[in-house]
Amino acid sequence: MDENKIKQLTDILKRLNSGENSAEIKQATKDFLQTIDPAELSAAEQKLIDAGLAPEDLRRLCSAHLELLDDNLGQMKLTLKPGHVIDTLIKEHEIILDFLDKLEKTNQKIQKMRSHKDNQEEFELLKNIAEHLAAAEPHHQREEKVLFPEIEKRGVSGPTQVMVMEHEDLRRYKKELEKLTGEISKIDFDDFKKRLDTVAKFIIMILRDHILKENNILYPTALEVIKENKTWKRMKDDCDKIGYCCFTPE
Ligand SMILES: [Fe+2]
Ligand SMILES: [Fe+2]
Repeated sequence: MDENKIKQLTDILKRLNSGENSAEIKQATKDFLQTIDPAELSAAEQKLIDAGLAPEDLRRLCSAHLELLDDNLGQMKLTLKPGHVIDTLIKEHEIILDFLDKLEKTNQKIQKMRSHKDNQEEFELLKNIAEHLAAAEPHHQREEKVLFPEIEKRGVSGPTQVMVMEHEDLRRYKKELEKLTGEISKIDFDDFKKRLDTVAKFIIMILRDHILKENNILYPTALEVIKENKTWKRMKDDCDKIGYCCFTPE
């Protein structure tokens, strides 16, 4: 990390934290973030924290970074034809993220209830969410059996291995969530709430982060390293054979 970049970062943080909120500082932040890779940025942030910067002063930088990722994802989506393997996966992610928002809200409502007889609608919704999250399995299968092997063949295997590990954790938690929705009236309600809170928060945290990494690191990497059109065509056929989720858009 060169000193010049540290200085640039320090200036940007100063301006962001002084409450400056102009289009110009936003653009300057994004431009700066484009010039730096994630490892460099982490190292620079650590250096500033070591020098006395409060970690919460990095918050506005994180928001700018997320906005930038969103912009980049939008750009990538524009280059993909509907039905492209990656296009379908990204669209499924959007729906999965909606289910995670619903899970978050439903869990919050249930945590305030006193009895399992309180509000049946919320439990019905919870069941529906749990079923849909479990129904995302063909999405993960297409990643593990079609997309990841092609990336790995081209020498990139670290990120895909992490993704597979997260899939495995998620399968366990989703199963636990589904099991819990069948036990609402059978177990002590406080015990039910505690277990629901734990498992829901795990799924929400891991899956949101997982999707962020796939959308912003793994999928762009795949588009970069898999260059041949005919490979993407064959991958699409293999994906068709595995099948889609009940919520996959046409
Ligand atoms: Fe995944
Ligand atoms: Fe995914």
